[in-house]
Amino acid sequence: MSIVTAGEDLLGRLIAEGSIARPSAPAAETLWSQRFAQRTQRITASMIRELLKLTEHPDVISFGGGLPAPEVFPVEEVRAATERVLRDHGTTALQYTTTEGYRPLRELLVRHMGRYGVDVRPENVLITSGSQQALDLIGKLLINPGDRVLTEAPTYLGALQAFNAYQADYLPVPIDDDGMDIDALEAQLRGGPKFVYALPNFQNPAGVTLSLARRRRLVERAAAYGIPIVEDDPYGQLRYEGEHLPSLVKIDAELHGCGGGERAFTGNVLYMSTLSKTLAPGLRIAWVVAPETVITKLVQIKQGTDLHTSTFCQYVAYEVARGGFLDQHVRRIRAVYGERREAMLSALARHFPRGVRWTRPQGGLFLWVTLPKGFDTTALLDEAIREKVAFVPGAAFYPCGGGEETMRLNFSYAPPEVIEEGIKRLARVIERKRIP
Ligand SMILES: Cc1ncc(COP(=O)(O)O)c(C=O)c1O
Repeated sequence: MSIVTAGEDLLGRLIAEGSIARPSAPAAETLWSQRFAQRTQRITASMIRELLKLTEHPDVISFGGGLPAPEVFPVEEVRAATERVLRDHGTTALQYTTTEGYRPLRELLVRHMGRYGVDVRPENVLITSGSQQALDLIGKLLINPGDRVLTEAPTYLGALQAFNAYQADYLPVPIDDDGMDIDALEAQLRGGPKFVYALPNFQNPAGVTLSLARRRRLVERAAAYGIPIVEDDPYGQLRYEGEHLPSLVKIDAELHGCGGGERAFTGNVLYMSTLSKTLAPGLRIAWVVAPETVITKLVQIKQGTDLHTSTFCQYVAYEVARGGFLDQHVRRIRAVYGERREAMLSALARHFPRGVRWTRPQGGLFLWVTLPKGFDTTALLDEAIREKVAFVPGAAFYPCGGGEETMRLNFSYAPPEVIEEGIKRLARVIERKRIP
């Protein structure tokens, strides 16, 4: 009998005799939590995930999550693609695959990147289980405890969650309507970040877009300091107004003269995007573009995480996308979300009280509201939920505090008439809380 089993027997006997009390539930909980690794201390429940639960209540209008509109999911195309995959590639699609990802899908993504002026090879592409996984893998790759990550403030909450698990600290850079404040950026670059995490297109959460001049400057200054950039671009194709702007990875490749023809792609920027917003988040298909040395290391890291992204989902995504379907589908999404953005902007103008400001995103899924100083949107959320409307309080998106008077509103999920009603409800809540 092992010492452990003997100990357990003794414990059981003493409990049965009543000599000692059965460990209470909280004590058992402490037993576990004392054993959690230090890195878990900063991993806490995501307010967004909690809020998503609210969307299940049909009478709550939720501007909280980042959900695509279910009406735009191409259910029929996915069903037909699934049937073809099972008919023509059933045994391989249900088998393990390589960590890098399904080769034809990577080749398709290479062509996609090429259309946006980024010249890479399949060896520069890694398929991930959503770009959320890419953020986690990149955190594992780059962050030692106490390393500092330069981020926009506010920035994507999911990135903070991923990087927090690796005990990152942050160098926040404030943003305005043109994205990162460039003077503040320069000062924070001097603080020696391990890398810059940037969302140039219709940023989550604020909806703002980094101007072309600032993109060039960011790429050039980061290169001058020898600091890599992680570019997260889930929304680049969802533009409803204005001209497409080149990605940081493209500007960087031009600056360094890398990629294209026989030249290796060796830039200073890791780029990531996803099919979550242009096809369906349930497939969990995203990709990272990086120099081969980085991809090789990410592949090794990913092996320890999940071996590979779902073979079946990669086959289905490829089958849906290969004939060019996504181009026409993205046009449809743009039309639907563009209309919803208009609905929200005009409802805000009609119903929100004076003194409240909001951004006017040219694309994406979100806009950002700033209430007058003194408001606390976390406290306001309670009232809002009683009024059956939800949003995400802005403070959650700030890596180093601040933003108490801000909130993020999603405009892609609810149809225009529901947006109108939700904004009316929210306006009532703000009016009631108005500081005299
Ligand atoms: C900026 C940003 N990065 C990454 C993600 C994660 O996307 P995915 O569904 O590909 O994991 C999101 C999702 O909303 C996002 O907004």
